[in-house]
Amino acid sequence: MPATDVIKKRLIASSFPVVLTGAGISAESGVPTFRGAEGLWRNFRAEDLATPGAFERNPALVWEWYNWRREKISGLKPNPAHYALAELGKRFADFTVITQNVDGLHTFAGSKDVLELHGNIWRVRCVGCAAVSENRQVPIEIPPRCSCGALLRPDIVWFGEPLPVGVIERAFKALERTDFVLVVGTSGIVEPAASFAATAKSNGAFLVEINLERTPLSDIMDVVALGKAGEIIPKLL
Ligand code: OAD
Repeated sequence: MPATDVIKKRLIASSFPVVLTGAGISAESGVPTFRGAEGLWRNFRAEDLATPGAFERNPALVWEWYNWRREKISGLKPNPAHYALAELGKRFADFTVITQNVDGLHTFAGSKDVLELHGNIWRVRCVGCAAVSENRQVPIEIPPRCSCGALLRPDIVWFGEPLPVGVIERAFKALERTDFVLVVGTSGIVEPAASFAATAKSNGAFLVEINLERTPLSDIMDVVALGKAGEIIPKLL
């Protein structure tokens, strides 16, 4: 039986599927991934751009980088993988999408209540009063300031920072009760997301991975489908 038929059969039988996505699901929309030949971390040092220390040292430089990423992402559209997941979500009473992506493309495609582990590039947070607001300015005035006078930062989780508590709690609740996990387009090395599949497996879930190549997660998977997310996921509908 082709891998997609096996996946489909298990998915249909599932009462509460969970999908975990990474940068690879947005690659076909034109969003750069982090690792691999064209990955952002090839050309940029995360320590200089995506840590609280980097922002303290040079907020303008950090904002220049996020402004550049906003410019790259703004105007991009969800691809068939995002749309197929949104459509699948409508067919289940319980369906959870957990993403490491900050581009907002799952919600754009119509997925509901997406658990954004690493925040969202289209939100800002005040380092003074902690107010969070949507901000879609491109280019953004650098560095942007809150009405209280303090600096605004991207509402994104940087290296060394904890994940948003409410989001991580909901993610673990979903992983505890799910019977089917689909892991799409993540290199599977950034925690805690890298451990999500193992957590669900220890609770008895069936695990599927869709990726261009094998990853450190592949060995614990029940099915690995190698190929483009935008080509494979629509076949599951
Ligand atoms: P990575 O860039 O590490 O990995 C992207 C994965 O997607 C790789 O395994 C690719 O093989 C795969 N891939 C690429 N194109 C694909 C396609 N069309 N279809 C299927 N798979 C494809 O991205 P993440 O795993 O998401 O964190 O990275 C995790 C975190 O590390 C990010 O959220 C970010 C980064 O540092 C923060 O910024 C906090």
